[in-house]
Amino acid sequence: MLPLLGFGLLSLVLSSYAASLDVPPAASFWVPSLPDIHQDPLHPLNIYAGHLSSDPHASEANPADVTAHLYFVMVKNRRHADKERVMFWFNGGPGCSSFDGLMMEVGPWRMDGKGGFNVAEGGWEEYTTMVYVDQPAGTGFSYTSTNRYVHTLEEASSQFIEFLRNFYRVFPELKRMDTYLGGESYAGQYIPYFANAVLHSELNIPLMGAAIGNGWIDARRQYPSYLDFAVKVGILEQNSDAWKEAKKRTDECMAEVEAITGMEPISVPSCEGLLLDVTKIRERDGPDGQKMCINIYDVRYDDVQPACGMNWPPDIKPVTDYLDRKDVVNALHAQDHSQSWVECRGRIHQELHERQSNSSITVIPSVLERIPVLIFAGDQDLICNYVGLESMINAMTWNGETGLGKVQTRSWSVAGTPAGTWVTSRNLTYAKIFNASHMAPFNLPHVTHDMILRFMGVNFSAILEGSARIPSSVGSDSKVVYQEASTETAAPVPTGKTPQQDKAMWEAYYNAGSAALVLVIIFLVIGGCLWCRHRRRRNLQLPVNQDEENIPLTMNQEHNESKEFRSRKGKEKATEVDEDEDSPIFNVGDSDDEDTYRDRRRD
Ligand SMILES: *[C@@H]1O[C@H](CO)[C@@H](O)[C@H](O)[C@H]1NC(C)=O
Ligand SMILES: *[C@@H]1O[C@H](CO)[C@@H](O)[C@H](O)[C@H]1NC(C)=O
Ligand SMILES: *[C@@H]1O[C@H](CO)[C@@H](O)[C@H](O)[C@H]1NC(C)=O
Ligand SMILES: *[C@@H]1O[C@H](CO)[C@@H](O)[C@H](O)[C@H]1NC(C)=O
Repeated sequence: MLPLLGFGLLSLVLSSYAASLDVPPAASFWVPSLPDIHQDPLHPLNIYAGHLSSDPHASEANPADVTAHLYFVMVKNRRHADKERVMFWFNGGPGCSSFDGLMMEVGPWRMDGKGGFNVAEGGWEEYTTMVYVDQPAGTGFSYTSTNRYVHTLEEASSQFIEFLRNFYRVFPELKRMDTYLGGESYAGQYIPYFANAVLHSELNIPLMGAAIGNGWIDARRQYPSYLDFAVKVGILEQNSDAWKEAKKRTDECMAEVEAITGMEPISVPSCEGLLLDVTKIRERDGPDGQKMCINIYDVRYDDVQPACGMNWPPDIKPVTDYLDRKDVVNALHAQDHSQSWVECRGRIHQELHERQSNSSITVIPSVLERIPVLIFAGDQDLICNYVGLESMINAMTWNGETGLGKVQTRSWSVAGTPAGTWVTSRNLTYAKIFNASHMAPFNLPHVTHDMILRFMGVNFSAILEGSARIPSSVGSDSKVVYQEASTETAAPVPTGKTPQQDKAMWEAYYNAGSAALVLVIIFLVIGGCLWCRHRRRRNLQLPVNQDEENIPLTMNQEHNESKEFRSRKGKEKATEVDEDEDSPIFNVGDSDDEDTYRDRRRD
């Protein structure tokens, strides 16, 4: 009965969409299921995915041109907090896919060791609708013709804004939700630019904040920090011979940086080899006669040369295999992207002419005048390490003062364990995360989730389940932890929502009139009944893993990838950029030399 009614409504809505809009209807993005993702059948995730036209000049293009189409995966919030929120997530590179975030970090899944994935607690979709965006075009499942690659951060921003315009035409109900940008590593460049572009656009969306994890923001502070960090974590001993050599290399690099005037560099080619030079002392022979070096994303580990961290985390192999499956590509509505998914596409990095854009450090102060920004840092990361981020914050002038000023840095604990430190000053929050890598949410999902809920100002008194039961505190400010008095007194409304939320929800349904929401209503009705039954059986265990660390560094070696990496990295990068200028036009996607490549400032 119910499904029949649902399909009737669906076709009605579909036909009205086809008549009025040239973006596909929301229902065409709906992902009812994914192969080998073992979901709770009672609480299936609500997923949408696909391509959206994202070329701001598409209307002037020849109809035969392949214009930019960014790709997204949206996972709707599983539970309701005090209000509805949406976050757009970006991994870095440049050229690295946001499937890193989705499949290994802040998303709802973790690999099951059998080629599939289990749904896990700790994902940010618990209370926030998460939209993972593959950008700039050519990254991940996104595509464009090779003569239309993005060359500057300004172009990347226009592409993202055009993506948003079309995204909100498909999902108008998201436009009024509190909106956040989040990401890591090279997204430390994207996010301030994107935030600025959104704030100056006609989109008129409530952008409430931006969060950047181990971001590459300020080359001037980050390059010299390799040496300081290496001393701090005990890789180098001050004044030792190895230290003196590393210092010499650092000074040479800094002379190059200082010679650049008139703009803040995003990167300096002759400094790119510095992080491995500084940590040369960690080079050794491995058990199989392989040469080993430091894992630049987590200094607690080593990796084989020349990968030095590219093989980490071990999830990258199963994720790549999974996304190469035809059934998966079809289920994700990614079939318009003709090639295999690769985590990072070197070509995208080469095409981004960094010398033409100011580093985002010049943009962040104006963003901070308008919205709060969270800088967070796993303390075991070398490549975008916290020492450099702290020196960047100390040197930055924003909202009328330089540095954090007199505010107190407070200790932060999650589930009774020290999680890190926390400090906020004039709209900037800095959170240092203990015992976490470059991909902090990979190591400590519950800690990083607590962090983002705090940053977004989620009213902890208003949340009831899952992470609501994990205690946490910053200084003396303790989270209100939900106590279930007894199953008898459980909230009568199945979704546990407030009347305001219900009102907002129904308003959204009427305004949107999208097929997607019709489906949501049907699922709420069915799901609500099932949920009621399930809730009574629910046991009250704390869903937190006391020991979240579980990072076996498998030494899975991919020789091709490693060789590729060596030829693309370090000081050779600059010359390669120039060689690649005359790329074939009207070639969709990437040439055959496109391949697996992970940039050192990736993710
Ligand atoms: C870069 O930023 C600096 C300082 O904000 C400014 O003086 C300079 O004009 C900018 N350069 C470019 C190319 O945008
Ligand atoms: C901080 O952000 C808010 C918006 O959340 C904004 O109104 C305010 O002007 C910003 N500046 C300062 C100094 O707090
Ligand atoms: C985590 O970090 C803290 C502070 O740096 C340290 O005291 C503690 O031993 C670390 N725990 C583990 C398991 O490494
Ligand atoms: C937080 O939520 C609780 C429970 O819904 C409510 O009583 C309280 O007023 C809320 N606090 C704020 C600051 O909105």
